[in-house]
Amino acid sequence: MTTAARAAALQARHASATPSSKVSPIALEQRHGAHNYHPLPVVLTRGEGVHLFDDQGRRYLDMMSAYSAVSFGHSHPVLVQALTDQAQTLAVTSRAFHTDRLGPFLETLCRMTGMARALPMNSGAEAVETAIKAARKWAYKVKRVPEGLAQILVAEGNFAGRTTTIVGFSTEAQYRDGFGPFAPGFSAVPFGDARALEAAITPHTAAFIVEPIQGEAGIIVPPAGYLKAVREICTKHDVLMICDEVQTGLGRTGRLLACEHDGVRPDGLVLGKALGGGLLPVSAFLARDDVMAQFTPGDHGSTFGGNPLAAAVGLAALQLLEREQLSRRAHEQGDYLMAQLGKLRHPAITDIRGRGLLVGVQIDPAFASAREVCERLMDEGVLTKDTHHTVVRLAPPLVIERAQIDEAVGALRRVLQGIDAKAGVRREAAAA
Ligand SMILES: Cc1ncc(COP(=O)(O)O)c(C=O)c1O
Repeated sequence: MTTAARAAALQARHASATPSSKVSPIALEQRHGAHNYHPLPVVLTRGEGVHLFDDQGRRYLDMMSAYSAVSFGHSHPVLVQALTDQAQTLAVTSRAFHTDRLGPFLETLCRMTGMARALPMNSGAEAVETAIKAARKWAYKVKRVPEGLAQILVAEGNFAGRTTTIVGFSTEAQYRDGFGPFAPGFSAVPFGDARALEAAITPHTAAFIVEPIQGEAGIIVPPAGYLKAVREICTKHDVLMICDEVQTGLGRTGRLLACEHDGVRPDGLVLGKALGGGLLPVSAFLARDDVMAQFTPGDHGSTFGGNPLAAAVGLAALQLLEREQLSRRAHEQGDYLMAQLGKLRHPAITDIRGRGLLVGVQIDPAFASAREVCERLMDEGVLTKDTHHTVVRLAPPLVIERAQIDEAVGALRRVLQGIDAKAGVRREAAAA
């Protein structure tokens, strides 16, 4: 059965299981929503820890954690308590006034990351946009780049969100197709190649924005020492090194920040996803004093950025991360996951890569698409998503236990055995 046919069958199965008096939620989404996603055909109704439950009451192991946003597991009681307490007290005020929640959140964020100042936003893309504005203004006011000529370097294969400026510097054709014209002032250099970065720097270069590990590109880990070399090059040429750690930050790769693996501190840092504790969109741009000092009242903002509800949940998430030593846990469980995956030794797996609990399993398309593997994993009670058609992402909540990792790897083993059987049938058919 083709992947499309299989998806249709799964969808039909779901629709038929829905009471006839009710239109299926999938059908409602398809009829009334934009078709800008291609979700697996499952309707989730509840989450608890590392588990998700569908509308048929079936339990799944969440091996994706909402692209790293649910690092603490679903509905962590401490975070839900912080959310509900604050929601009942004071939720949204705008930044027209001070609140008692924002200062403590920013203080903790700066202390933990070692950055001087933080500017809170909501989505990751907004925080990246904030970084771009800060870098450009710093270039004009401090580095004295002639007005309008500031250049920002990015890495090929980057993913930083979906705003028009951001997709404008994407190197992925689909992300750009039909959405131009795009903002000028960006150039892409190969990821993992420090020499190419240095060669691309001009006196007008304001910043280099880089993910320490490229998530959406397929969990691409750069060569050892790359970020250290980037740090040295940026310092040498007075270029801001800005790490986009929306996906890799806050413990995901086994350190609080992935750039710590190379022992470097960036000039600017973008955080998001897990900062909202899996409950709210909370992001932030953090930077050196002289970079953040470029923002003056009226330059930048967001109605919801830094609201008391977000600040209370963000602070509780950071405290939980420290208290439960989740970075260390991600390191240990990530090593275990890698070791177990390594034992699969299946010809359909051409690479296993990642750091901590951000792992990609590359699937040979001659055996199956990564999407098909994810659909079959769903049947086995494991939810995750493919990236770039050939990579199965394994990025569970950081609170995952070893037994649950065994469960996920066991499910993958069974899926691969099924794929083997299918390949056998194909081989027999070809021989006949
Ligand atoms: C590295 C990185 N930066 C930025 C973003 C954008 O975050 P958001 O989807 O919250 O706008 C993402 C989202 O996947 C990301 O992975």
